[in-house]
Amino acid sequence: MSIHDEKYAKRIEATFAKYPDKRSAVMPLLYIAQEEYGWVSPEGIEEVAQYCDMDPTQVKSIAGFYTMYSEQPKGKYWLQVCNDLPCALRGADEFHKQLKEYLNVEEGGTTADGMFTVEHVMCLAACDKAPMLQCNFHFVENLDMEKMKAQIEQWRAEAKAEKK
Ligand code: FES
Repeated sequence: MSIHDEKYAKRIEATFAKYPDKRSAVMPLLYIAQEEYGWVSPEGIEEVAQYCDMDPTQVKSIAGFYTMYSEQPKGKYWLQVCNDLPCALRGADEFHKQLKEYLNVEEGGTTADGMFTVEHVMCLAACDKAPMLQCNFHFVENLDMEKMKAQIEQWRAEAKAEKK
């Protein structure tokens, strides 16, 4: 496992081509590291630091600042439920509670099968589609538990199909 893997070479090259200096590419490269490891692991931080000619401590502090980077291993489906005010006014807190109950996880926890991590985040700028969440950075909007249960079953089926 490594972001030095050939499959990322073109993407990394294209990323560096967009910026005047290597350090500016740190955030896109952190996404690649997160994709490769499933989280921003110490190995990923080291590799990004090498690419960007930065100290790993600086890269780690950037990763720690933003909620889109995870410094802990996550489930295959990382569910970030918005419960900022506009979503809360449309039932996000109750939805979030029911989702955790349905998946039997605590806040920030991952299901025993490693499939789902649930946590809350601040506004994701989709307030007109509240309540909503993002799963691996894709928005799922206008939610209720019936819709969510169907979505969870679909993800489970997709994950099962991938294993075949
Ligand atoms: S408050 Fe939830 S998307 Fe803005």
